[in-house]
Amino acid sequence: MKKSVLFVCLGNICRSPSAEAVLKAKLKAAGLDKDVFVDSAGTSGYHEGDRADERMQSHAVKRAYNLTSIARQIRPADYDRFDYIIAMDRNNYQNLMNKAQKPEHKQKISMMTDFSQTHNGDVPDPYYGGSEGFENVLDILEDSVDGLIQVLIEDL
Ligand code: 4NP
Repeated sequence: MKKSVLFVCLGNICRSPSAEAVLKAKLKAAGLDKDVFVDSAGTSGYHEGDRADERMQSHAVKRAYNLTSIARQIRPADYDRFDYIIAMDRNNYQNLMNKAQKPEHKQKISMMTDFSQTHNGDVPDPYYGGSEGFENVLDILEDSVDGLIQVLIEDL
């Protein structure tokens, strides 16, 4: 049965749209893009309706990821709609847990680096930093998404 993944950060303009693009690209390369629905959202609505941050877009495109999503805030229905709700950092994780209404909703929530072999903890917020922060985000996401795809394959 088809699975669904929602990536969540604060603004939905840097980390989670990148995670969405990386997972979509890697699913396509693996021939699994029809089997998994992928979306992203922010815990905040600060950037609702915006395209991804231009700095994040330009770093992503160098690795052939196109960030096409439009920012939106997470909604209550997302907790029912998605099988995996994946937070980029501990603040996002705690915010998602606090808003979850049911135990089965809480069980869907994890951290991005839970799927990584080499990274722990947060995907650090790159918004107020320099270009190395955006590259670091992509490095962590590529590694974590590889692990996530293995979990999805087991689950499909
Ligand atoms: P994101 O990055 O959560 O990865 O999308 C941020 C984007 C915007 C802000 C903070 C983080 N902001 O404060 O507006």
